[in-house]
Amino acid sequence: MDVKRNETIGVVGLGLMGCSIATCLLMAGHAVIAIAPIESDLLHADKRIREHLTKSQQEGLTDKSPEVIMQSLSITGDYSRLSPCVLVIECTLEDLGIKRTVFQKIEAVIKDDALLTSNTSAIPISILQQQTKHPKRFFGLHWAEPSHTTRFLEVICGELSDVTLGESLYQLSQGWGKEPTLVRKDIRGFITNRLMYAMYREAFYLVENGYATVEDVDRACRNNPGYWMTLLGVFRWMDLTGVAAYHAVMKDLFPTLNNSTEVPKLIDDIVKAGGRGVSNAHGFHQYTPEEAKLWEETFKEFSYEIRKLALKYPADVVEKKLKFK
Ligand SMILES: NC(=O)c1ccc[n+]([C@@H]2O[C@H](COP(=O)([O-])OP(=O)(O)OC[C@H]3O[C@@H](n4cnc5c(N)ncnc54)[C@H](O)[C@@H]3O)[C@@H](O)[C@H]2O)c1
Repeated sequence: MDVKRNETIGVVGLGLMGCSIATCLLMAGHAVIAIAPIESDLLHADKRIREHLTKSQQEGLTDKSPEVIMQSLSITGDYSRLSPCVLVIECTLEDLGIKRTVFQKIEAVIKDDALLTSNTSAIPISILQQQTKHPKRFFGLHWAEPSHTTRFLEVICGELSDVTLGESLYQLSQGWGKEPTLVRKDIRGFITNRLMYAMYREAFYLVENGYATVEDVDRACRNNPGYWMTLLGVFRWMDLTGVAAYHAVMKDLFPTLNNSTEVPKLIDDIVKAGGRGVSNAHGFHQYTPEEAKLWEETFKEFSYEIRKLALKYPADVVEKKLKFK
C-alpha cells in the first residue's frame, strides 16, 4: 500500500468522531468520501465539519479556507461512492452487529487491495476481522476526539493482519499530524483504553465506597496526572520522580486496588435512567443545559490550546534541545 496525500479516503459513520476524522484527513490533503449510514448524519455532518475547519483555520492548523477544503469532501448515503477509496475508516456505533453489516456494505464496493479499518474503542481487531473478506488488509485505527487536534492514533494489527501493511498505515498517519503507536499484537482495549479503564474502575471504587466524591476524584486527576501526562507518559514520569519509590509502594498498594469485573452501580444507574453525560445534561455531575453546552465549547477550546503545548514539547524534545545547543 502506498497511500498518497491527495488520494481518496472513505469515512463511514458521521457522528462525533467521523466528523472530526474527516476534518483531519481533509486538512492533510486527502479527498474524503463521507458516508452517512443514517439520515440524521446528513442533517449535521456538513455543518459540523465546516465548523471544525473554520476554527482550525483560525487556530493556524491549516492556511486553507473551509470553502476550498470542503471541495474535497462528498457527503452521501450511497456506499457505492466508496469505490475509488484506497482506505476506508469505519466509525459507526460500538456494536458488533452494526459494524458487521457496515463492513459488508463497504466490501461490496471497494477494490480488493483497499485497506479497511475500524475506529472501535475496544472490540478486538481479531474478532472484527473475522467478519471481513480480506482479514490481512483489516486494522484498528483508533483515534482520540477531537481527531483533528489530537496527536493520538493507535494502529492495531489483529491476529490475521499483515503487519507490513500496518507499518505503512503507521507511516501514513504521520502525515495526518499524528504521533502514532503501532500495536503489533491485538489485545482488548489496546493501549490507552486498558490504562484508562484501570483508572476509571479505581475512580468508581473510591466514590462508591465513600472515600471521595466525584468532584474530589476529578479534581485530583486534573491537578496531578493532568500536569505531567502530556509531557511524559507513565514510564518517564517514574524515571523522573524516582523508580525505587514506585517499587516500594507497589508491593503494599497493588493488593488493595480494585479488581472487580462488574460494571459499577454508579454508572449502571445513570445509563439505565437515560443519562448520556454532557450531551443530554445528565451524567455524574449536575448540569443546566447552558452549563452542558459551555462544557462542550470549553473542551473544544482547550483541545486547541493543549495541542499547541504538546507540539512545543514533542516526544523527542530533549534530543532536539541537545542537537541545537
Ligand atoms: N467518542 C469517542 O471519544 C471515541 C473515541 C475513540 C473511539 N470511538 C469509537 O468510534 C465509534 C463511533 O463513536 P462516536 O463517538 O463517533 O459515536 P456517535 O454516537 O457520535 O456516532 C455514531 C454513528 O454511528 C452511525 N450509526 C448509528 N446507528 C447506525 C446503524 N444502525 N447502522 C449503521 N450506522 C449507524 C451513525 O453514523 C452515527 O452518527 C465507536 O466505535 C466508538 O467506540 C469513540
